[in-house]
Formats: sequence, C-alpha cells, structure tokens
Amino acid sequence: MMETISLGGLTPKVFLRDYWHKQPLLIRNALPGFKGLLSRDELISLACCEDAQSRLVVQKNGQWRLKHGPLNDQDFTRLPKKQWTLLVQDVNHFLPSARELLSRFRFIPHARLDDLMVSYAPKGGGIGPHFDSYDVFLLQGQGSRRWQVSAQLDDAFVENAPLRILKNFYLEQEWVLETGDMLYLPPKYAHNGIAEDDCMTYSIGFRAPSYEELLTQFLVFLQDRISAEGRYSDPDLQLQSHPSILSAAMLSQVQMILRKIKWNRNDIEDFLGIYLSEPKSHVFFEQPAEPMRLRDFIQLVCKNGIELDLRSRMLCVRNKFFLNGEVFSGSVEAYRILIKLADNYELTAIKNMDDETGGILYQWYMNGYINLKN
Ligand code: SIN
Ligand code: CO
Repeated sequence: MMETISLGGLTPKVFLRDYWHKQPLLIRNALPGFKGLLSRDELISLACCEDAQSRLVVQKNGQWRLKHGPLNDQDFTRLPKKQWTLLVQDVNHFLPSARELLSRFRFIPHARLDDLMVSYAPKGGGIGPHFDSYDVFLLQGQGSRRWQVSAQLDDAFVENAPLRILKNFYLEQEWVLETGDMLYLPPKYAHNGIAEDDCMTYSIGFRAPSYEELLTQFLVFLQDRISAEGRYSDPDLQLQSHPSILSAAMLSQVQMILRKIKWNRNDIEDFLGIYLSEPKSHVFFEQPAEPMRLRDFIQLVCKNGIELDLRSRMLCVRNKFFLNGEVFSGSVEAYRILIKLADNYELTAIKNMDDETGGILYQWYMNGYINLKN
C-alpha cells in the first residue's frame, strides 16, 4: 500500500482539523523524489485521445481563448511560445501511477475524491486568477510555478471570457513551488498559477455536490422506488362558480397524497452509494474480449489477486457495496474481502474465498469493473 503524502510534519488528523476546508497549506517537498508521471508529449497525446477530457487555454493580447478536447496535432502546431496551458482531467483513468498517487491521499474518503488533473504550461502560462468550488492539492511536477493566493470575497468574473477569471485579484501571499512541493487550497480560495518555466502541475481534486444536484438526483432515484395504491377521488365535489379554479379541497387532497413519498436511511445509503459511484457520462465499461470461465477466474484471483479497473469507483456502507452505480449486498465473509478492494483499489492473493464472494467478483470481472493482476 502507498504511503500517505507528506503534510509537512502534520498528521492527517491535525491537517483535517486545522486546514481542510479552512486555510491554505504550503508543503515543501511533499513527495521527495517525485519527477512527474508523464512527459509534456505524453500529456498532449492523451489530450488528443477520444476518451480524455482536455482543455487548451491560450492568452493573447490580454484575450483568453479556450478549446475543449479531444484536441488534435494541429492545435499544438500553431501555439505561441509562451502563455498557453493544456489541462487534462481524469488522468487516473489512464495511468496506474496516477491512481497510485491518488491513493496517497487516502486520509480523505474516496467518496470526496474526484480526479487527478494534469496541466502543462510553458513560461507565463496559466488559467488566470480564479477560484474553484472544491478543495484541491496542487502538486508541482516538472519545472516551477508561482502560486498567488487571496482570501478575497470579491467574486466578480471578467465578462465575456471563456473561463471564469476574477475581475479583481487582491494578491495576499505568493510562493514559487518546485518539483515535489504541494499547495493545499480550500474551496473558493482565489488563486493564480503562473508557470516560471516549462511546468507541469498535478491537481488532486475533490468533489462536493451542490444541494441542488443532491436534491434533483435524489428525486430521480426515488421515482423508481415509489409505489402507491389509490387514485384521486372527490365524492364530495362542491359546485364551483369558476370551473377553471383549482379548489382548496383539490389542493389539500394532493398535498395529502404527496405525503406518501417517504424514504428511510436505507434509501439514503443506496442513493448516495449509487450516485457517488456512478461513472462520468463519457465512461463505458466493456466485457473482457475472451472471458475466462468462473473456475479458472477464481483460481487466478486466489493466486495473483485483482484490481479495480482504473475508471471504476467503489464505495461501501454496512454490508453494501457500490461499484460504478450498482449496488451489491454481501455476507460478513464477502465484506471482509471486498472492503479491502474498495479501500486499496486492489486485492493481493486471497487465501480462502467463499463461493458468494467469488460469484460477486466474477460478475464484476464480466462487467469490466475489475481486472486480474498479472
Ligand atoms: C493549472 O494546473 O494550471 C490550474 C490548476 C488550478 O488552478 O486549479
Ligand atoms: Co484552480
């Protein structure tokens, strides 16, 4: 299992208490020996790939231009020497080393983790002063970057710009981060990162659904679970002088019917597990090309172990497991094994595996959610 990233001498507990969601923290040499996970050219190839989500931002004469991926070679041939930046989201879906990097942040629950975004910028490049709605750890890869931050409340954005750039940025503090240094920023903390030279930044990003998202998604979830007997009826219908008016009696009856929408803790568990483990809309899983038979599969699982597909999201509550938007219940025995897979993204060789756990794993293998380890 990967070691936790250094928090500059703080324990994760103290970091959560004093910094998480509260104030920035600069950590020099957070990952000694870190050289980055991919080169500039590899990042460009990834940005040109259909499945990756990328953005190319160019600054010219005080104007900002933004192009969403998939990008192509030509997008990179006509770029100015300075002041542009390429950002690629979900790099952990492509590189095992990126998921390993994320696993160094296991002091934050998986449910809060979003992705690893990697950016490249030549000297002067950046995406301008802005703030994000989420917490972020900005780990410096190759090169160096000047980070300027501000606790300002003024959140007015430049009008008509393709990116949300702060109109006024009141610089309060700045640091130059070298390879392996890391800056933690709480949500809504204004920041501006300017490349000092050829520079790559690794952003470990978190997710926090808005109330509106949660409420609307919960209603979508509930609609499949609701069942009710009965039908609107009005044996005591009163004569109305305006037939177009919705009467108080009708409104009250519907109000009563709506009270039949009920949910319990179990529904909330299922909703949250399904919602938070749901793959992003562009992610699709495929069956293995030549699937193994159950018996052979189990034998190899016990011998070599398995790992979650890089794009899989797995969460759990009580005896329930959520994998890529689906819920599975298991016995205590299954829990003992599967919780390790959920926590560590992998299972090394297993000594004793019961049939139920084997069956669940085989189903996940057939769905393309897990892969055998070599
Ligand atoms: C970047 O890597 O250029 C931007 C990261 C951020 O500001 O969130
Ligand atoms: Co940002």
